[in-house]
Amino acid sequence: MRKEHESTAITYADERNLAARAELFRVLKSYPATDAETERSLGLFLRASLLARIFAIRELYEKILMLPGIIIDLGTWRGQTAVVCENLRAIFEPLHFNRRIVCLDTFNGYQGFSSKDKPSDLHKDGTYKVEKDYALFLERLLALHEKNNAMGHNHGKHKVFKGDCRATLPKFFKENANEVVALAFFDVNSFTPTLASFDRVYERLVPGGIAAFWQLTRDSIPAEGMVYAGEILNKRSHTIHRSQFYPGLCYVSKK
Ligand SMILES: C[S@@+](CC[C@H](N)C(=O)[O-])C[C@H]1O[C@@H](n2cnc3c(N)ncnc32)[C@H](O)[C@@H]1O
Repeated sequence: MRKEHESTAITYADERNLAARAELFRVLKSYPATDAETERSLGLFLRASLLARIFAIRELYEKILMLPGIIIDLGTWRGQTAVVCENLRAIFEPLHFNRRIVCLDTFNGYQGFSSKDKPSDLHKDGTYKVEKDYALFLERLLALHEKNNAMGHNHGKHKVFKGDCRATLPKFFKENANEVVALAFFDVNSFTPTLASFDRVYERLVPGGIAAFWQLTRDSIPAEGMVYAGEILNKRSHTIHRSQFYPGLCYVSKK
């Protein structure tokens, strides 16, 4: 069954771009190297748009190097941002074992749209649902990356929580009264869950800490923009920037 969501259905590409993308995908699936050489050469198939996402995550990671606190990936989906962060941790601060990463997702797709959101065929409850037990898979995958990285004997730092973030995030903070946040990525794309989660994260965000929004200026997905315009812009002391590499990614730094 073909699963559609914004990441695959909304594109600025034309027919020629899409055909080239499909061809690259075919080459990836039939690439004749050994598993080890394919794994070593995955960059052969990395398109610029994904590379830009990775650069953007690195851009923000570098800003928190001298800050204490965990990383939260809210709306983690398949967990790519979290995995990139674990590997950046290994590169930039391999001895920083307290840079824990917390991933949150329903893993059943979008949840929590209200009349404030712009409904569409894709932008509705359930879009982005992943396979059963994906939370467990992702937690194991994160540990596998830790084990592959320097000081890999020290693994199991990162946690994955399944459920609506309006319940899982307050529960996490309640059960972990010591945890403060250096960097939080927001990507749940509905107004009420984004606002509720932002409020909880901001209470624990250290000064200079970063709240990053993947869709802040996207007109067709207005949740993050509404939270920013209505609840942050004139109400919280902050600075805001957009990523150098991924224009959609904007980040608020707490003052
Ligand atoms: C656009 S996708 C995230 C993409 C991901 N951040 C990435 O960069 O690859 C949105 C994710 O938010 C999750 N989500 C939506 N509403 C949620 C909610 N109320 N609580 C937890 N997760 C939610 C969905 O299940 C989906 O995986």
